[in-house]
Amino acid sequence: MKKILFFFLLSITILTSCRSDSSEDTVIPPTVKEFTLKEAPFPVGFTVNSTLLNQDSKFRKILIEEASTLTPEYGMKMRTLLPSKDKYYWKEADDFVEFATNHNKRIHGHTLIWHTSTPDWVNNFTGDRNAWIELMKNYIHTVVGRYKGKITSWDVVNEAFLEDGSYRPTIWHQKIGPEYIEFAFRFAHEADPNALLFYNDFGTDYLYKKSIAIGKMIELLQSKKIAIHGIGLQMHTRIKLNEDYLTKAFTYFTKYNILIHISELDIRLGTNANPVHEFSEELAMEQKKQYKMIAKIFKDLVPEKLQYGITIWGVSDAHSWLTQLPEWPLLYDKDYQKKPAYYGLQEVFEKK
Ligand code: XIL
Repeated sequence: MKKILFFFLLSITILTSCRSDSSEDTVIPPTVKEFTLKEAPFPVGFTVNSTLLNQDSKFRKILIEEASTLTPEYGMKMRTLLPSKDKYYWKEADDFVEFATNHNKRIHGHTLIWHTSTPDWVNNFTGDRNAWIELMKNYIHTVVGRYKGKITSWDVVNEAFLEDGSYRPTIWHQKIGPEYIEFAFRFAHEADPNALLFYNDFGTDYLYKKSIAIGKMIELLQSKKIAIHGIGLQMHTRIKLNEDYLTKAFTYFTKYNILIHISELDIRLGTNANPVHEFSEELAMEQKKQYKMIAKIFKDLVPEKLQYGITIWGVSDAHSWLTQLPEWPLLYDKDYQKKPAYYGLQEVFEKK
């Protein structure tokens, strides 16, 4: 009996030691952390289309996994929020803010005053200058006040200048004069003194009359101690971007010591002169180079304290706002697969 017990115990000992040895042999590789755009040294994110947010789980998944900052594509424009006098429509904006807040995303409000999203009732408003100022004040106080403490920053005025540096003849400019810009920034600061206030425009990826005029406007607001904290360079651009132009533009705007936000980045494959009708690997690689170049100039040239971040104007090529021609301008293809453009940003941001 004793012999049986001895051999039983011996075999148990051998088995467990083998098992423990074998468990030591099977080294489980550490899970390699998948790169995401959250690794960037500043917030990178996307504009958010309300319909996709509600209906498209792949869209939501990418926002959650990749974005640090989110901008509403249309949900916070005046035409959406106040389609008729004194009747606000908050659902799209509230749903967007709830989603972004629940997923700890920075929120950039877009955009309080923009000629293209002014509702018809405003365009037809017949009040005098003071009545127009009061209309703007009530709107901005109501909207910015509603999201006080939830929205980090706002595009207060969007696209107020023409290519030649003159004021765009918008309804606001016609009814109030160029001071409408100052009023808009004052009202936004009154409504939320902690919100960061931006001026936003396109065609600023090169130093030209418009950029110079914007710089003068920034100086004017700063001289009047009106709160302006940053500038949004929309950067709706095309491949074959001139690196030297871009460098000059960034250098120019950093001299005002305000935050720089690449606010609406997308890179069309075609140009007006050479429209593109099919996607090619060669064009995809060229686009990758352009995304990489813009991100690298921004990262290397804009002082860290002024790097507000990069917002891509959409997630998938299937939903880009550029509908006139297929332009394949974004980081993900129509099936939400990463394009070479995504890896262009990864090469700039990935921590080695
Ligand atoms: C665009 C949206 O992406 C479209 O869905 C909408 O139809 C028109 O506006 N500059 C801006 C953005 O500041 O608000 C615009 O967004 C694109 C140009």
